[in-house]
Amino acid sequence: MAKNFRRIGVLTSGGDAPGMNAAVRAVTRAAIDKGVEVVGIYEGYKGLIHDNMKVFKDTDVSNIINIAGTALYSDRCLEFKTEEGMQKAIATCRENQIDGIVAIGGDGTFRGATDLSVRGIPTIGIPGTIDNDITSTDYSIGYDTAMNTVVECVDRLRDTCESHARLNVIEVMGRNAGYIALNTGIACGATAIVLKEIAFDEEAAIADIIAAKKKGKRNFIVIVAEGAVPVDEKDYSEKLTKRIEAKTGIECKFCRLAHVVRGGNPTLRDRVLASQMGAAAVDLLLEGKSNLVVCVRDDKLTSMEITHALKLDRMYKGTLKEGDLDGYSAETIAEMQAFCDKKLDAMKKLYETARAISVH
Ligand code: F6P
Repeated sequence: MAKNFRRIGVLTSGGDAPGMNAAVRAVTRAAIDKGVEVVGIYEGYKGLIHDNMKVFKDTDVSNIINIAGTALYSDRCLEFKTEEGMQKAIATCRENQIDGIVAIGGDGTFRGATDLSVRGIPTIGIPGTIDNDITSTDYSIGYDTAMNTVVECVDRLRDTCESHARLNVIEVMGRNAGYIALNTGIACGATAIVLKEIAFDEEAAIADIIAAKKKGKRNFIVIVAEGAVPVDEKDYSEKLTKRIEAKTGIECKFCRLAHVVRGGNPTLRDRVLASQMGAAAVDLLLEGKSNLVVCVRDDKLTSMEITHALKLDRMYKGTLKEGDLDGYSAETIAEMQAFCDKKLDAMKKLYETARAISVH
């Protein structure tokens, strides 16, 4: 165990995700099991700035493993992005004798974790976001539950589409990633899937729908990822619905599932992932590690330096900033590129499969 490690803090930040509570529970119980105190920090980094926290007993996290949302509450804290806010947060850590922090959330949360780490508060990140848009991990907490919720909702929509011979366009969350849309599209037998990562051939999709209708197909599902919506086109999904109706003659309905899929009891998979990641985060802190994000790759629990993970993320999303790769060797950049290419190739392959197995 790292010397003088007496107390760790745990917080959830950014958009909530089912399974965050299971992670908070795991962090708390794993730390207490190792003789380390835990403080639950409320409302993410805001709670750290304003000293809103409570020392947890192991029973304080009882009966939350099965509940979505976050019992610690969440916040997207702008004040934490300022040096003043950051210094207040660090002072709170010192006053409360917090020797390290586990921060559960998405990329914004990890940026905060790095800021704390470089200022002397060891911090470990756990990916908790329904979008699964953390490039360094195959799965983030909440993703599986969100997909299962989408499947349940779309199955219901399909029932009524079949009765009325209708098409339903469904927009699902995923600001920067189409994973939810792609996988639920396959699981729900969608006729078309619209993602940011892969160019959408609207004419071909409409031709597929017309051809399938001629073969007697009555219900049609089109899934659109929120992130696929062009920034300059307001109400893209609603307009797409109208265009499909005009060109196919099929009555089309539109549904935006939005935050509905951020609620609901976490699935077994999310509970187990959250439990494993929570315990692993505590182990990393106690080993004296800092500025790491816990990841799962090829079914194995691992970790990656957060600064590197954030750059990998930006490389994958095509949002690298000037100077991001300064100091990186050509070999490392090539490895990062290969990592991103592999991820995108897998997505493209799945997208091709989705098209191949739809009626057209
Ligand atoms: O957590 C990720 C996410 O669910 C995105 O898919 C979505 O764009 C965003 O959060 C919505 O955030 P908010 O809760 O602030 O509306």
